[in-house]
Amino acid sequence: PRFIALIPAAGTGSRMNNELPKQYLSLAGKPMIYHALHTLCHSSHIFRVFVILAPDDHEWNRYDWSSFADKLVVKYCGGATRADSVLNGLKAMQQTDGSIVKDDWILVHDAARPCLTIFQLDQLIDALALDEVGGLLAIPVADTLKRADLNQRVMGTESRNGLWQAQTPQMFRLGLLMDALSKVNSAAITDDASAIEALGLDPRLVLSDAYNFKVTYPQDLALAELILQKKET
Ligand code: CTP
Ligand code: MG
Repeated sequence: PRFIALIPAAGTGSRMNNELPKQYLSLAGKPMIYHALHTLCHSSHIFRVFVILAPDDHEWNRYDWSSFADKLVVKYCGGATRADSVLNGLKAMQQTDGSIVKDDWILVHDAARPCLTIFQLDQLIDALALDEVGGLLAIPVADTLKRADLNQRVMGTESRNGLWQAQTPQMFRLGLLMDALSKVNSAAITDDASAIEALGLDPRLVLSDAYNFKVTYPQDLALAELILQKKET
């Protein structure tokens, strides 16, 4: 089986509070999505990288992507939720390239995780290439967890024992992932593994680190920029 990356990039970035969708905000001199694309395209494991854009995306074509031309395929088939964008992308993938089969591994990676490294990618692929189900990068929760009511009054402290924060890439076989995403309520899930779990399967967590965080709020931009600068030196 081969390893194929899919980057859902059809979100609006509502929590970022910027006119421009966050995947295009400038980070270390490039639009955010450039960085994850660079890592995925430069991995010798990855056969092809599909980018899934909103049907009305007008930003993508303002940049030059020719340095990724040997692996990059762009599809304007994003949906209303992340899960819809991924499922539409998987369908488009099969239509575009008849050589892609159900047993191929799909690595779904958020456009909003620009700090992914080749090392983390290799760790994921090495850990899961022979796995029955597949899995995802993740890190153990570090903070103490409080449950609160609507007035922010603490109702209790949750044990963080055994709790992890899910990251991407999330890696599953094409056939299984399509089956899982077609059956799930796409508005109720925020990652791919949830859909696999809903089938009764248990994805495996592969230890990552905090650098692969998701850029969500405006204050995340400065942190991502620092990490990317460190990566380059
Ligand atoms: N995404 C997508 N299609 C959607 C929603 C999200 O392809 N309908 C993508 C985003 O572009 C992003 C990834 O899924 O790369 C992770 O989602 P998130 O961080 O939630 O991004 P947004 O949904 O754009 O941001 P927000 O939730 O703040 O609106
Ligand atoms: Mg979102």
